[in-house]
Amino acid sequence: MDKLVIRGGSPLLGTIRVSGAKNAALPAMAAALLTDSDVILENIPQVRDIETERRLLAAMGAQVELGYGRAQHRTTINCRNLANTEASYELVKTMRASTLVLGPLLARMGHARVSLPGGCAIGARPIDLHLKGLEKLGATITQEHGYIEARADRLQGARIVFEKITVTGTEDLLMAATLAEGETILENCAREPEVSDLAALLNKMGARIEGAGTHMIRVQGVAQLHGARHRIIPDRIEAGTFIVAAALTGGDLMVQGCDPSHLGVLLEKLQECGVTLHTNGESVRVRSDGPLKATDVTTEEFPGFPTDMQAQFMTLATQAEGASIITENIFENRFMHAQELLRMGANIKIDGRRAVVRGKTPLSGAAVLASDLRASASLVLAALVADGETIIDRVYHIDRGYERIEEKLKAVGAHIRRIGELLPRRPAVSATAL
Ligand code: EPU
Repeated sequence: MDKLVIRGGSPLLGTIRVSGAKNAALPAMAAALLTDSDVILENIPQVRDIETERRLLAAMGAQVELGYGRAQHRTTINCRNLANTEASYELVKTMRASTLVLGPLLARMGHARVSLPGGCAIGARPIDLHLKGLEKLGATITQEHGYIEARADRLQGARIVFEKITVTGTEDLLMAATLAEGETILENCAREPEVSDLAALLNKMGARIEGAGTHMIRVQGVAQLHGARHRIIPDRIEAGTFIVAAALTGGDLMVQGCDPSHLGVLLEKLQECGVTLHTNGESVRVRSDGPLKATDVTTEEFPGFPTDMQAQFMTLATQAEGASIITENIFENRFMHAQELLRMGANIKIDGRRAVVRGKTPLSGAAVLASDLRASASLVLAALVADGETIIDRVYHIDRGYERIEEKLKAVGAHIRRIGELLPRRPAVSATAL
């Protein structure tokens, strides 16, 4: 198992490029199940979750070609000949977003068998709202042996009001509704840029969707969809992570190839902390040379402060003067990183969904354990300002969503390297011993 070894104390200087958004690429790849023609996706990040989705689609009989060389971030998917409509436990347990195949499979093939995802490090994360919505569209859903089985002849348009805002739930239902008969109205939808990006792709494929990016989405069902070419939006969470890294280390960093309009509240909060930011259409320049000030944040659905930036912001708060109150509203158990930050010298008190971080406390390098994707990012950030060396174990979590993070950070001045598991050498076996 790989580890990251980081020596803190160097400011990040120069230009860093943002990859395509994992959470936009995953539903876009699932959308290819809706057509028998080629779907060509550009700006696909090279991260482990994308590889998991490739395996998921390939196991169903889809052809998934990953580009090489200059086209290495392009993927062509063809789902003409699907051999089965199943998402196995083996794959779903490693990536919950696998449930995004449910809606498109059901809509095009009339059947889907998808393993129920289990619990997750950050919360229970049920998919009841996906299932209720599909039932409203006319699907019959049964559950047996840990699998959800959904069937429908042709889905029928309906009015669906989500009881709670759900990102992948909105995406799953949106994909299903494109091929339903008649009109579907989705209310209380997620407004995340990833939902709008999916709708843009689906419309290029011939869907008739209006209102994506607002609370109410209208879909006029069509009989079939065709192929399309689409460029995935930049990853706002990767961009946010680099921006916080620069702010923390007292750096001067150009975060290139992002969309600042997707980063609104995060940028406002950083300015409140005393960080200097300059944005243009596709970059954010971050400069931070004075002391950081404590600021409270509360996670909310987009356009609120993203839960996927909460852990990284907590690391920043350890280096800000005063008390910051961080409230996590989306997931019930998303403070796992706090325990590791405490071991590095942070002063954090957790009370239910609230964390009070008192700063500034010096951090010292330690051996720490990554518990989930964004928690690992917060530990990388802490290590960048810690005294001495930090060794982060279970780096596979970070590889799920950050493309070549150590290479990108190294290029802007971080002292970071990846090491593999150091196994004790086996003594050589002599011929006579065999
Ligand atoms: N929820 C339900 N029932 C459902 C669906 C969701 O109760 O049927 C609850 C969840 O338990 C949670 C809340 O609703 O408390 C919001 O969950 P949501 O469904 O929006 O989360 P998600 O779609 O499973 C996506 C991202 C997450 C991100 C969340 C919130 C993808 C592939 N994943 O998850 O990303 O944290 O939205 O913004 O888009 C990450 O990238 O590290 C990550 C975890």
